[in-house]
Amino acid sequence: MSNTSSAQKKRVLSGMRPTGKLHLGNYMGALKNWVGLQDKYDCYFFIAVWHALTTDYADPSQVRENTLDVALDWLGAGLDPEKCVIFAQNQVKIHAELHLLLSMITPLGWLERVPTYKEQQENITGKDLSTYGFLGYPLLQAADILIYQADYVPVGQDQVAHVELTREVARRFNQFYKVQDADRRAQGAEILPEPQVLLTPSPKLPGTDGRKMSKSYGNTVLLTDPEPVVRQKLKPMVTDPARVRRTDPGNPDVCPVGDLHKVFSDQETIAKVYAGCTTAGIGCIECKGWAADSIVRELVPIQERRSKYEQNPQLVQEILNAGSKKATERAEQTMQEVRTAMGLAENLVGETVR
Ligand code: TRP
Ligand code: SF4
Repeated sequence: MSNTSSAQKKRVLSGMRPTGKLHLGNYMGALKNWVGLQDKYDCYFFIAVWHALTTDYADPSQVRENTLDVALDWLGAGLDPEKCVIFAQNQVKIHAELHLLLSMITPLGWLERVPTYKEQQENITGKDLSTYGFLGYPLLQAADILIYQADYVPVGQDQVAHVELTREVARRFNQFYKVQDADRRAQGAEILPEPQVLLTPSPKLPGTDGRKMSKSYGNTVLLTDPEPVVRQKLKPMVTDPARVRRTDPGNPDVCPVGDLHKVFSDQETIAKVYAGCTTAGIGCIECKGWAADSIVRELVPIQERRSKYEQNPQLVQEILNAGSKKATERAEQTMQEVRTAMGLAENLVGETVR
């Protein structure tokens, strides 16, 4: 694996909080895209366990199981530990060291102005989020990204502000501290290069109640749902309200089931849906059955792969251990430069501090 092409690949980093079993929205809006990035880039994907604790600190009882579920869904979806580095944040503890050091240079106002901060504080009721850890959420995320000197961060629109903060923190860091190596500095190298967002296009994906699919709405189809559950969940879905009777024609463009077809069905099926719906040639029950067919076709290989790992949690842990080791090695490279810059590289007798 020491060929030059892998050394020249751009680095990609992204993460997900361990919120439990993933649904089709998580898959289409992130995970499927990651699977496609593994061949082209030097990829690091991690489970943001500490980020989960910023909101769930009072009841961390689900964190361990949720972490396993996310790891299983990733492996099931086709993230391949031979191609990318998969790890858990809390196993690579130097993320916390960089977070701490970045906190020294980060003005409070920058964190208070991150739009998700006030929004989440208002929207998440029943949890006290007036904590230091919650305010620092995006700074921890900045540390996650910058510690790998990542070129690209594949995320959805909701995370763009966090990557923007990451860039600002990197810029401020680089103003204070310069690369030591004269040659690298002459080439314009910086200790913490500014990463770019790789915006994940997320298709309109309705949940079973017609609203955006989201865990908090309880309207999801899980990657682990067996075929009968998928069918059962689609059956009561709302359709084009114009189709009151079977004989009324409808329009797939204003129907959540139509949206599902656009995401999961092949061209031929989509053509059948348009023809049948607009002429009242098909019923909605039949149409939902086809949508379920398309979803099941996507899920079957994921569930097959997942079930192999499910029976072997030991293997999953070993994958995370190996990933953490690789991630730590790469992160250490960056941290040597950071420690040098901040006067922490050597102990009292001149030995390198690790
Ligand atoms: N905040 C991200 C989310 O809610 C998770 C995350 C944590 C992340 N650290 C990251 C994403 C670093 C990209 C890069 O999904
Ligand atoms: Fe929606 Fe299909 Fe019914 Fe048309 S036939 S309204 S696309 S469910």
